[in-house]
Amino acid sequence: MRVQIMLEFVRAASIPQNMLNVTTPPRLFAIVSLVMIIVMVVVTGLTQALFFRQSIIDRESVIVSDMANALAHEHLISAADMENYSNASATDHLAEGFGPISQLSGTQRIKVFNRNYTIAWSDDSGMLGTKQTTHIGDLTRAMNGEIRAVFNSEETNINTGSHGSPTPESIEIYTPIFEAKQDKSSAAVIGVLSLSRSPLALNQTIRDGLYLLWTVIGVTGIILFSALYKLFTLVYSRQKSAELRFTKLTAEHDHIVQLEKLSAMGEIVSEIAHQINNPLVGVINLAQIAERDPEISAKTRRLLAAIEKSGVECSDFVQRLLRLNQAARSEPQLVEVNDLVRDTIAFFHQTIGKHHTVTFTESDGDVMINVDPVLIRHALFNFIHNAILAAPDKPVVISLAADRHEGISGYRLSVTDRGSGFDDKVAKQLFKPFFTTRQGGTGLGLSVAQFIAMKHGGVVRAENMSGGGARFSIWLPSVTKP
Ligand SMILES: Nc1ncnc2c1ncn2[C@@H]1O[C@H](COP(=O)(O)OP(=O)(O)OP(=O)(O)O)[C@@H](O)[C@H]1O
Ligand SMILES: [Mg+2]
Repeated sequence: MRVQIMLEFVRAASIPQNMLNVTTPPRLFAIVSLVMIIVMVVVTGLTQALFFRQSIIDRESVIVSDMANALAHEHLISAADMENYSNASATDHLAEGFGPISQLSGTQRIKVFNRNYTIAWSDDSGMLGTKQTTHIGDLTRAMNGEIRAVFNSEETNINTGSHGSPTPESIEIYTPIFEAKQDKSSAAVIGVLSLSRSPLALNQTIRDGLYLLWTVIGVTGIILFSALYKLFTLVYSRQKSAELRFTKLTAEHDHIVQLEKLSAMGEIVSEIAHQINNPLVGVINLAQIAERDPEISAKTRRLLAAIEKSGVECSDFVQRLLRLNQAARSEPQLVEVNDLVRDTIAFFHQTIGKHHTVTFTESDGDVMINVDPVLIRHALFNFIHNAILAAPDKPVVISLAADRHEGISGYRLSVTDRGSGFDDKVAKQLFKPFFTTRQGGTGLGLSVAQFIAMKHGGVVRAENMSGGGARFSIWLPSVTKP
């Protein structure tokens, strides 16, 4: 449901869909590393802030402890003052000694505990003689000579009040007060001073530090990210172009293997065709001579005519096989392709029949390329013938236009029909020698056309048209390989 709402939002905000496409490796890298940088900045900032906060509190605790002990020693505060706190002289003495601490900024409350954990002096006289503390454990540790600092939340803070503290929270420092003695290490603890201070100033310092830290880490992160992103896209594009080169090399290799295979096959097929052709011509001639004999019966004449017809069909097939080998030998010359197409259409009309409509959309201006005209004519002838066979009563459209293939400039000669096209099974075998779905077809037309295209550094493409019918095209480079 949420995803749907988000998609709706995206659509409503008309964010281009490709912006949201994270499937390309550089984009994925960018998003993952940005998320990582943000997480790193936030986590580092927060852990550093906690660390600095604790360090500052520890440092302040030591300073407060030094100050409290210095004041106590200056005013010669003794254990007796702490015990007899209710005496007026002791109260004055304690107030003189510890009173100046309330001048510290952010002070909320000062409490001085004697060894009995009773408050011997406080800036809040109402607390005198009580044992008010929420941190008895820390107070005990302070009585044993440790300096402790604790945080009072709004709920646990009982020390807010007299100094008009702006926050309900406080940082409470428990520091031991030692008796005045030359040898400090053996001095006994005579009481504990508890100082509650507002954390506002500290929080502000931490916040400023945190912002500074985030800015520094953020800027460093962005610089690092930009450098890494550049490096990544560079490596990625290099890898892509290497892959592309490899694919091209593989395609060229396949191309050469195919050429060699077709050449070898052409040689074998034409050798067989030659061997068959001579006796076949003999069979046809002898049948014709025998047919002319007036003494033979009508039945024999019919049989001889059938032999001659089969012989002619067979010879026709053999002639087509011989063309496969012709394609292996090419004699390139500079040819104007518009003329070549017009000649082929005329030849087609002469041989197959004038009643078929073949239209030609010529290219603007002369198209001169270096090809073997006989071979190109042969390939085009087969495309036209196939197109007519696919839809005999419908017009066939030929077009010639400049086109680029794999970044190379060239020309595409296309033949489009209005037949029923071809299915996936046929598509896979279109260029396989001897593959045919037609009665009387050799299945060599397209494989020879492909062979011819390859010989000229070009390609043949077959596609079904969206409105029905098929388009077969031969693409030839402007500058053909020698
Ligand atoms: N325009 C087309 N529309 C639909 N299918 C086609 C078309 N052209 C070719 N084909 C399919 O491709 C097969 C192979 O064509 P190809 O020209 O190689 O041989 P063929 O036409 O069957 O025989 P040949 O050309 O040797 O007389 C055809 O049998 C047919 O199934
Ligand atoms: Mg054909």
